[in-house]
Amino acid sequence: MSMDTHIHNHVALFSFIIIFHLVSSTLSDQNSNNNYIIHMNLSAMPKPFSNQQSWYLATLSSLLDVTSNQVTTNNDNNLNYISSSKKLTYTYTNVMNGFSAILSPLELEALKTIPGYISSTRDYPVKPDTTHSPQFIGLNPISGTWPTTRYGKNVIIGLIDSGIWPESESLKDDDMPNIPSRWKGQCENGTQFDSSLCNKKLIGARFFNKGLLANNPNITISMNSTRDIDGHGTHTSTTAAGSKVDGASFFGYASGSAIGVAPHAHVSMYKVLWEEGAYTSDTIAAIDSAITDGVDVLSLSLGFDDAPLYEDPVAIATFAAMEKNIFVSTSAGNRGPVLETLHNGIPWVITVAAGTLDREFHGDLTLGNGDVVTGLSLYPGKFSSEKVPMVFMNSCDNLKELIKVKNKIVVCEDKNRTLGVQTDNLDRAKVVGGVFISNSNEDIIYFIQTKFPSIFLNPINGELVKDYIKCNPNNPKTSMKFNTTILGTKPAPSVDSYSSRGPSHSCPFVSKPDITAPGTLILASWPQNVPATKLQSQSNLFNNFNLLSGTSMSCPHIAGVAALLKEAHPNWSPAAIRSAIMTTSNMLDNTKELIKDIGNDYKPASPLALGSGHVNPNRALDPGLVYDTGKQDYVNLLCALNFTHKNIMAITRSSSNNCSNSSLDLNYPSFIAFFNNASVVKSNVVVTQEFQRTVTNVGEEPTIYVANITPIEGFHVSVVPNKLMFKEKNEKATYKLRIEGLRMEENNKVVFGYLTWADTKHIVRSPIVVTSINSELTPP
Ligand SMILES: *[C@@H]1O[C@H](CO)[C@@H](O)[C@H](O)[C@H]1NC(C)=O
Ligand SMILES: *[C@@H]1O[C@H](CO)[C@@H](O)[C@H](O)[C@H]1NC(C)=O
Ligand SMILES: *[C@@H]1O[C@H](CO)[C@@H](O)[C@H](O)[C@H]1NC(C)=O
Ligand SMILES: *[C@@H]1O[C@H](CO)[C@@H](O)[C@H](O)[C@H]1NC(C)=O
Ligand SMILES: *[C@@H]1O[C@H](CO)[C@@H](O)[C@H](O)[C@H]1NC(C)=O
Ligand SMILES: *[C@@H]1O[C@H](CO)[C@@H](O)[C@H](O)[C@H]1NC(C)=O
Ligand SMILES: *[C@@H]1O[C@H](CO)[C@@H](O)[C@H](O)[C@H]1NC(C)=O
Ligand SMILES: *[C@@H]1O[C@H](CO)[C@@H](O)[C@H](O)[C@H]1NC(C)=O
Ligand SMILES: *[C@@H]1O[C@H](CO)[C@@H](O)[C@H](O)[C@H]1NC(C)=O
Ligand SMILES: *[C@@H]1O[C@H](CO)[C@@H](O)[C@H](O)[C@H]1NC(C)=O
Repeated sequence: MSMDTHIHNHVALFSFIIIFHLVSSTLSDQNSNNNYIIHMNLSAMPKPFSNQQSWYLATLSSLLDVTSNQVTTNNDNNLNYISSSKKLTYTYTNVMNGFSAILSPLELEALKTIPGYISSTRDYPVKPDTTHSPQFIGLNPISGTWPTTRYGKNVIIGLIDSGIWPESESLKDDDMPNIPSRWKGQCENGTQFDSSLCNKKLIGARFFNKGLLANNPNITISMNSTRDIDGHGTHTSTTAAGSKVDGASFFGYASGSAIGVAPHAHVSMYKVLWEEGAYTSDTIAAIDSAITDGVDVLSLSLGFDDAPLYEDPVAIATFAAMEKNIFVSTSAGNRGPVLETLHNGIPWVITVAAGTLDREFHGDLTLGNGDVVTGLSLYPGKFSSEKVPMVFMNSCDNLKELIKVKNKIVVCEDKNRTLGVQTDNLDRAKVVGGVFISNSNEDIIYFIQTKFPSIFLNPINGELVKDYIKCNPNNPKTSMKFNTTILGTKPAPSVDSYSSRGPSHSCPFVSKPDITAPGTLILASWPQNVPATKLQSQSNLFNNFNLLSGTSMSCPHIAGVAALLKEAHPNWSPAAIRSAIMTTSNMLDNTKELIKDIGNDYKPASPLALGSGHVNPNRALDPGLVYDTGKQDYVNLLCALNFTHKNIMAITRSSSNNCSNSSLDLNYPSFIAFFNNASVVKSNVVVTQEFQRTVTNVGEEPTIYVANITPIEGFHVSVVPNKLMFKEKNEKATYKLRIEGLRMEENNKVVFGYLTWADTKHIVRSPIVVTSINSELTPP
């Protein structure tokens, strides 16, 4: 499993590496005991057992009998019961019927023969993914969604993350309403954490590490409580629901008031991402608890790559959440810009891509001739106003030469996407300062946080500096100045390069991602004793706010928006809220052109990068029509994926899944059609794909909606009927969308367009993707 934080600074990079280290070390010990997650068939539970836990304990103790070499007497039963309780790491009741336990290979084999056993999976490690943004998405105190929804009052957002820093100013509860009486959660005591640290903002704090310990019995937990010593969870939770804090900044950059998307929503933290690693069994246990506690919205900035739905713990656990009407926001992952890299391609959650804000952080060079040249910088320190000699070192690939000029400001030119090597070399050489000339914005975001003073110039400004050095060969000089924040930069938003792209092979027939939200250089709260960044002297710099990038950051934005919508429309299903967010999103940037894709040369972003568009919470409040989807619709989809009965049961937990209406055509607010070679036999034969959708009128009545379709190159797209009349609120209407064309010759081609339904007040837009990417499912 992965935390979807982008590589933004050394702190988060560190935890990323630890997690992968644990992955490799735990997968190597094939023959020893391992922690497993076991799905059981509750219908097969023998009558005498009063609850699931006692059944599982008895099952485990019978395994010990079977696998023990010694003769067991009756007297040993009690002993076995004790050792079986030691083996049981969790009992799950909401998200699945089953448990996790430490088992030897022999015990696992014995378990497979026990009545009620369905399936088991190894307890795999979790991979975690990484303000101005509320304003950027249009939230304001004067009008629209914030005042209408009372800032998300009475809504509880649960986060599955690295814990929380309870002293954060963003968690103060001065303006907070009382805790809803339905809340059943807890604020658990632990190391440096006791229940008095919770308040009306932070209403729940729990931690889950039994799986981590079961897999790594010899490790010591450095902070055995919900306290966050990584920073990720503090950042994501305050992004979703942080209280307003004035005077926030990252060492002067991005200064202003920091506020979460749903500032009056309550927060409950479930810690599963540990410095020492993170595991599936803990993640499932956390989601199980969140459901019992009564959260309304879940935010999961983490995911599992390359798992089929019935083995993906997020997919399994969130199905139960969906059934309980809990909205689930997940991160798409940070493996872009390559297609087919997305995780959390789960039909019953929303999957969030990451975009940029209209904000840049600048530094200035003042050259010896008085010219001022501006570039990007996030350097948190100061620089003397004296001018320092500078030198041009081409591609800065020779460390020995760089050390010779370390007392100068070194200028490097990145012609070959080697910015990582260049920044690393200048760091090793311990130069006074660095200037990097690069046209690769997608690389700059990775490397901008250098430990030494640095400025990143575009090639045009880079030429100015190179010309100046050429014309003043004897003594070129410059000074550096930092700490400038520019707002209103264009174009914005754009989909950032790192954001993972669809389609997802978990279920390619549902187009993913669903939506884009701000994810790049997002300012939010940070633990005060976790370094926010480092300087060259190896000294740590601390700050109560930090700028992070990743789909980890965009995901809690959507959790916050869902909390606002939940307050306004308490009876809407998670699918209706998702539909409202998707169909009302923006497709244009602040230059009034289609939102661009930084990972694809700033070409218009396809729905496989952007989803439906960039979130617009004010419009989402009143979507007009929604595409609603319920449990049986998802079951119909799982049936059509040809999953076995057991596979489906692992997700739905029900042994009576009715597959009589099996269908890949989920009632979803987007369309994806596969026109690859596999789907047809012969070329020059027109292929037709048809989709059926049912929309529900949640706007005014009576009203008439008219369809409009943007043309898709090479295809004929039609909709029948092209007018929908509604006499009443909550009335439903059904239409068919038909796509006709020849199979696509070129591999991995993606074309797209949009279907909009409009009445006098609403525009309900759905993206349509036609692609030759293959639609194979992830193998088990
Ligand atoms: C679950 O148990 C019930 C009752 O024993 C049985 O009818 C059903 O087939 C079982 N389901 C699976 C998937 O094993
Ligand atoms: C962590 O804390 C819990 C509850 O306070 C306790 O039961 C457990 O033994 C502790 N684990 C470790 C490894 O210290
Ligand atoms: C948690 O700690 C507080 C303060 O130390 C104490 O009053 C409370 O009883 C503890 N709660 C539990 C469940 O141990
Ligand atoms: C854990 O520690 C025990 C005792 O020191 C040792 O025998 C065992 O090999 C260790 N296990 C691992 C996985 O390192
Ligand atoms: C950054 O600039 C702001 C004013 O624009 C100033 O208040 C702040 O002190 C500066 N911060 C640093 C670290 O220089
Ligand atoms: C770019 O990198 C490639 C492969 O490493 C190398 O062959 C080529 O010479 C480099 N080009 C420049 C301009 O450095
Ligand atoms: C499911 O199986 C049927 C019958 O073999 C096949 O036609 C269909 O393409 C399969 N569906 C998927 C999603 O693989
Ligand atoms: C599935 O549901 C239909 C009606 O909705 C019913 O006729 C059929 O018997 C059910 N099949 C199973 C296997 O339960
Ligand atoms: C299958 O579809 C039919 C017709 O729409 C409906 O009557 C029936 O209830 C559906 N069955 C299930 C199990 O959803
Ligand atoms: C589709 O057909 C074309 C032409 O026959 C071929 O070049 C291409 O590789 C095929 N693509 C796939 C995905 O099979």
